[in-house]
Amino acid sequence: MLSPAAREQILALCDRYPEGKRKSAVMDALFIAQGEQGYLSPETFREIAELLHLAPVHVAAVATFYTMYEKEPVGKHIIDICCNISCLLRGSSEIIAHLEQRLGITRGETTPDGLITVREAECIGACSQAPAGQVNYRFFEHLTIEKVDEILDQLQAGKALVSPEEVTHG
Ligand code: FES
Repeated sequence: MLSPAAREQILALCDRYPEGKRKSAVMDALFIAQGEQGYLSPETFREIAELLHLAPVHVAAVATFYTMYEKEPVGKHIIDICCNISCLLRGSSEIIAHLEQRLGITRGETTPDGLITVREAECIGACSQAPAGQVNYRFFEHLTIEKVDEILDQLQAGKALVSPEEVTHG
């Protein structure tokens, strides 16, 4: 169930759009729900649909079209490594294998403590900075094993990630 605060936030979104255009609030509403719950369930689709006076299938269609909406439980931090051609040629397989080995999980899985999910991603549009990935949807480019270790050290220590420019190895 969404909290009363989240429900209020979603209803407030409707004021941004002209009468009869509540559909336009769906993407923001999904982000509010995901921010609160960590992922989006069919029950959440129904709740959002009810608030926006839409068919649940419309909300579900938007959520399932875009990959940035999580439809399954994920870790507190999500590491996506691009495995498309430029990144593949520049070593993304080694990067993701190192993540799997260090965290004791395979791609698509979450660590048992719920801290980190590792996934393969399709091209994230940073081909000239390959190999590239995202941590919580923030870009990290020219990845190396050392950079990945530095990122993992920070996440596991509960520290805020330094900016990509400050990750200096490689
Ligand atoms: S191929 Fe990896 S970002 Fe494009």
